[in-house]
Amino acid sequence: MAVGNPSGWLALNFLLLAVVVSFLGSALSIDEPRTHMLRKESMMRLGGQLVLDTQEEKVNEKLMTIKREEMTEAMKTLVFPPSMHFFQAKHLIEKSRVFNILRKMPKGAALHLHDFSIVSMDWLVKNVTYRPHCHICFTTRDTVQFKFADRTPTTLKSEECSKWILLEDVRKRTKNVTEFDDSLLRHFTLVTKDPEVTYTDQNVVWSRFENIFSTISGLVHYAPVYRDYIFRSLEEFYEDNVFYMEIRAMLFPVYELNGEIHDKEWAVKTYKEVVDMFVKTHPEFIGIKIIYTDHRSKDVSLITESVHKAMDLRAKFPRMVAGFDLVGHEDTGHTLFELREALMIPVKHGFKLPYFFHAGETDWQGTSIDRNLLDAIILNTTRIGHGFTLSKHPAVMAYSLRKDIPIEVCPISNQVLKLVSDLRNHPVSTLMAIGQPMVISSDDPAVFGAKGLSYDFYEAFMGIGGMSADLRTLKQLAMNSIRYSFLSEPEKKIFMTTWEKRWKKFIADMATK
Ligand SMILES: *[C@@H]1O[C@H](CO)[C@@H](O)[C@H](O)[C@H]1NC(C)=O
Ligand SMILES: *[C@@H]1O[C@H](CO)[C@@H](O)[C@H](O)[C@H]1NC(C)=O
Ligand SMILES: *[C@@H]1O[C@H](CO)[C@@H](O)[C@H](O)[C@H]1NC(C)=O
Ligand SMILES: [Zn+2]
Repeated sequence: MAVGNPSGWLALNFLLLAVVVSFLGSALSIDEPRTHMLRKESMMRLGGQLVLDTQEEKVNEKLMTIKREEMTEAMKTLVFPPSMHFFQAKHLIEKSRVFNILRKMPKGAALHLHDFSIVSMDWLVKNVTYRPHCHICFTTRDTVQFKFADRTPTTLKSEECSKWILLEDVRKRTKNVTEFDDSLLRHFTLVTKDPEVTYTDQNVVWSRFENIFSTISGLVHYAPVYRDYIFRSLEEFYEDNVFYMEIRAMLFPVYELNGEIHDKEWAVKTYKEVVDMFVKTHPEFIGIKIIYTDHRSKDVSLITESVHKAMDLRAKFPRMVAGFDLVGHEDTGHTLFELREALMIPVKHGFKLPYFFHAGETDWQGTSIDRNLLDAIILNTTRIGHGFTLSKHPAVMAYSLRKDIPIEVCPISNQVLKLVSDLRNHPVSTLMAIGQPMVISSDDPAVFGAKGLSYDFYEAFMGIGGMSADLRTLKQLAMNSIRYSFLSEPEKKIFMTTWEKRWKKFIADMATK
């Protein structure tokens, strides 16, 4: 693809710079060199090399008029959703006309998502906890656990619970069921009225974050729910105009009512079955791939086992399982360097196991944690999860540009997990300005009270990109999500064709409205 070819680009930039510099020397007024400088920056920016057709230009003008209105208003009132915490900004975002355009826009793919944080938690409360045989128990740490079982289970020593109670019975005894359901929902998300007070530091918010996964585990790993959850996730993203997903999945054991347990192979097959079923009724949906993940808090011997498991799954399901990644709080987990022996196993065996490492999701520059970014690249990561620190590493930046390795930017996640508070100050602003390869994703939208991909697109478009980001930025981001997916080249072509069709329709609709 000629557009965005990094080396051609650098040459072009160099040429433009020469023009600007020679112009500066001879200028009598500042207007022309200023225009030249702006044009140069505009071409360097993400999407800056895209040429819009007449109708797209018209839509771009409309979009930018609306965007300018919202920005101008915000500059007056100083109420600007991307500068506020998402929990407090969400209702304002939903009123934004820009946001409502972004929702309709075909966004391509979501490449950075986690298995059980992508369906609105409301559905878990209103649908899943109302199913028969659902048991609940209350722990001493003010958390809850769930288990589906034929007969009320006895408490195991390993469990923190006092006793299991049928949820139906709890509800019968509850005076105000709405209130009870709301309290369940509060256990399922990080959303609070006062996030700055509740989450005093990164460790506090990460600990609550990881608790949520343990809370909902008994719900989502019940086989019938497991299937429905996958189906719902496809639905929610499809409704948000996303047509392909790559999902980081832990593939924990899945259980049946009678206590039968299913393994990782079963889980992958189930993902495939559900997607095949979904595609039957949503023929333009491309599909999903799974990135098998383990927790980075585990030591090298355990990660060795999971790397072997990843190789095994990749060999058995080459079209479904894309590769391997490590998840969890980077600051407190093992570094890639500490785990290098495990992570070098595939290459030593001559086995191609693609990596999709989370790396550089930290504020601690220059520490061993921050070096994860270097090691991810050295270990040939296909994409970089977050890469929040990338702008602080010029050599890695140059390498990722040359090798066309994108970062997966998840603005709301970075804010909620306290890496940055005002999204205008997100370090990716700089990278967007120079056209670094990137995609936008939403990480764990359901835990953050978001949905699909549009909220993160809004933050990226309004906050990170600022007034400079336009329709070309958006188009490039959507095209990037296809280009940097792990689909085969022929599959990407098909995807691009169906996306272009939708894009044309979106442009036509926008142009006539
Ligand atoms: C939950 O949703 C499924 C469809 O996804 C539906 O068949 C079922 O009846 C719902 N159950 C409850 C308790 O709402
Ligand atoms: C139950 O609680 C909700 C939320 O607090 C409240 O709006 C509602 O009026 C209550 N219903 C009853 C019957 O008390
Ligand atoms: C990464 O790729 C390079 C070049 O293909 C290769 O020499 C090296 O062994 C690879 N390293 C790993 C860990 O896969
Ligand atoms: Zn993630």
